[in-house]
Amino acid sequence: MALDPAETRAILDLYPSPRSAMLPLLWLGQNSDGWIKPETVTAVAQLVGVEESEVVSVLSFYTMYRTQPPAQRRLQVCRSLACAMRGAGEILERIREETGVGPGETAPDGAFSVEVVECIAACDHAPACLFNERMTGPLTPNRALGMLRGEGGEPE
Ligand code: FES
Repeated sequence: MALDPAETRAILDLYPSPRSAMLPLLWLGQNSDGWIKPETVTAVAQLVGVEESEVVSVLSFYTMYRTQPPAQRRLQVCRSLACAMRGAGEILERIREETGVGPGETAPDGAFSVEVVECIAACDHAPACLFNERMTGPLTPNRALGMLRGEGGEPE
């Protein structure tokens, strides 16, 4: 099971209402499995006392939750103001032109995925991104393509 019983209990004990524990429990499941498996959705719904559809609805709202197995190389490009003004949109467009993979998509072979996220608190490195959960920037189209193709440019 994705949810460690002791950690689950500790999270539930932090909140007066079990429903409030939904997000951290989902996070626990994602950290355990790399993504939110359907059985995690079922378990969390039961633990916090809501319908599974409500958990699915929450998952669809927050971009930090993965509902598919993660790609080998994950690029998350910030699209908030500072990064947008410094070319994040152009980077995403170039990635799509060169690879055929747009925001929210995974390469057919599962080698990489591209996502957009809101501000990751690295505005001074705009346009910034997370690559396999590690922040880096400023990002350029060529650097982004290099990271996605496994040709270098990854954060140190
Ligand atoms: S706006 Fe992109 S990191 Fe803050």
